[in-house]
Amino acid sequence: MQEKKVTGYIKPFIPRMCGGFAVKLIGTLFDLGIPWVLSMIVDEVLPSGDFNLAITWGVIMVLFCIGAWIGNVTANRMASGVSKDITRRLRGDTFRKITTLSNRQVDKLTIPSLISRMTSDTYIIHQTCSMLQRMGIRAPIMLIGGIAITLTMDPVLTLIMMTMLPIAAVISFKVKNKGRSLFRRVQGASDDMLMTVRENVTGVRVIKALSKAEYERKRFDKVNTELMTKEKTAETFMAMVNPMMGAILNLGLVTVIAVGSWRVYNGDSEIGKIIAFMNYFTLIHQSLMAITRIFTSISRASASSGRIEEVLNSPEDLKMEMPGENEEEKVPSTAHIEFRNVSFKYEKSNFEMNNLNFAVNRGETLGIIGATGSGKSTIIQLLMRFYDVTDGEIFIDGKNIKYYEEAELKRKFGAAFQNDTIFKDTIRENIAFGRDNANIELATEIAQAKEFIEERGGLDTEVAIKGADLSGGQKQRLLISRAVAANPDILVLDDSSSALDYKTDSLMREKLRNHRADTTKVIVTQRVSSIKHAETIIVLENGQIIGIGNHDFLINNCEVYREIADSQMKL
Ligand SMILES: Nc1ncnc2c1ncn2[C@@H]1O[C@H](COP(=O)(O)OP(=O)(O)O)[C@@H](O)[C@H]1O
Ligand SMILES: [Mg+2]
Repeated sequence: MQEKKVTGYIKPFIPRMCGGFAVKLIGTLFDLGIPWVLSMIVDEVLPSGDFNLAITWGVIMVLFCIGAWIGNVTANRMASGVSKDITRRLRGDTFRKITTLSNRQVDKLTIPSLISRMTSDTYIIHQTCSMLQRMGIRAPIMLIGGIAITLTMDPVLTLIMMTMLPIAAVISFKVKNKGRSLFRRVQGASDDMLMTVRENVTGVRVIKALSKAEYERKRFDKVNTELMTKEKTAETFMAMVNPMMGAILNLGLVTVIAVGSWRVYNGDSEIGKIIAFMNYFTLIHQSLMAITRIFTSISRASASSGRIEEVLNSPEDLKMEMPGENEEEKVPSTAHIEFRNVSFKYEKSNFEMNNLNFAVNRGETLGIIGATGSGKSTIIQLLMRFYDVTDGEIFIDGKNIKYYEEAELKRKFGAAFQNDTIFKDTIRENIAFGRDNANIELATEIAQAKEFIEERGGLDTEVAIKGADLSGGQKQRLLISRAVAANPDILVLDDSSSALDYKTDSLMREKLRNHRADTTKVIVTQRVSSIKHAETIIVLENGQIIGIGNHDFLINNCEVYREIADSQMKL
């Protein structure tokens, strides 16, 4: 695959940009002409006393102003059109790419960072693009043109002006650096505050339930005060900057006037020229500032481009592979699902699973039990190939899951996860999920969801965002309905009946047995009763299988399992 570059997104727009540059150039030339016309009027036209000549030059002056205005406005509009189109394409591609990243890649890049690459980094590129088009041509032409014109008018004054400029440039550069570090601190404090707000808003129920509100309020006050203090420091500093720059500019102007009037007095220069000089001095000063801004903007944009390119060029992960040469010599897998010597490690944690072995036949049930963090969900993620194993093989229907096409593999599964999302949509659509082979009636019957759905007004009732208007048990039953609806080969229920009472749970299992006899069920749970009848049960502890067999076998042979069963018996 060819490496993608952010600059590659700009290339197709170069002709359009050039059009904008041409218009901008015309506008800028008019701008540059205005002080010159003014000096002509003052020095040549007015002293001549020719009224018609004065009118003509007045008209010329007006035309220059209109030309400059139209040119600049048109070019700026063209520029924002181009930047908008560039950013839209870039954002679209970045978003599409993010949706294809594997879990491992997301772990590595982290979700907050992906969000900020998608939003602020693309925004910085947008801004830089439009600034480059607005100022990239204008500022250098103003600078060079201004100096050239003033040199022809009065070389001595030009030299005086040129000695002032570097001083102004150095000061403005220093000020900008200081200001940037102050604002970066403000940005950090603002991140802290956002994080606190997000935690509080999403966790508002828990916070209220545990009466932590007062504590949280204090915590918020602290980050809020922090942010305010930093903002105040930065703004106070910045408030000094503009007057200071103004003072430097004025000092320059005063020098030009002082030296200029002395030269006029001696007959070496003219009044109109001094007036023109003052205008050019301001223009040149502005373009110098603009040029430093362009450079800082480009350096920021190049950092952002790097971050976006890292996403755009993430290699395709979890590809369908072709069987190797020595594959045939291996013992074929005859079960429906088999883990053979599987090892796995996450990118960013010490958690490890080593040498997992188990097999389940078609239509059987595999129970996975173990404490929180023991690796139950990890096994599911490996089975569904959200992550690739570090070592070993996983077979489904005798074929290594790496050799399946992604869609074919995913089609085999119906899954309900711990924190699956319920969408703001009808109950029917939440279950069908766009699949036309979904049998919704049967699914809700199996999942014991029929009753409550009828109470809420039937399948076409809408549910709130994230199912906020449903109880925990109702959400779980909806998710289970979704998982069984398309009659999958393998049904995965990851801790998805924890909020159901024992009776509902057992009714559901009975329905599954009757209506989904050919489906292989993988049931993750903390409850012995949910998997008691499973043909195979795996007991997990810290990523290791410490017991495997059916209920009776484990009761007699696995101490941990017996303890779990005993403690739940007493409930
Ligand atoms: N994406 C991830 N990156 C790093 N570590 C993870 C990730 N997901 C889970 N873990 C860690 O792996 C361990 C097992 O997690 P998990 O399989 O979800 O446990 P269980 O489902 O049994 O509660 C935990 O210690 C967890 O912190
Ligand atoms: Mg889990």
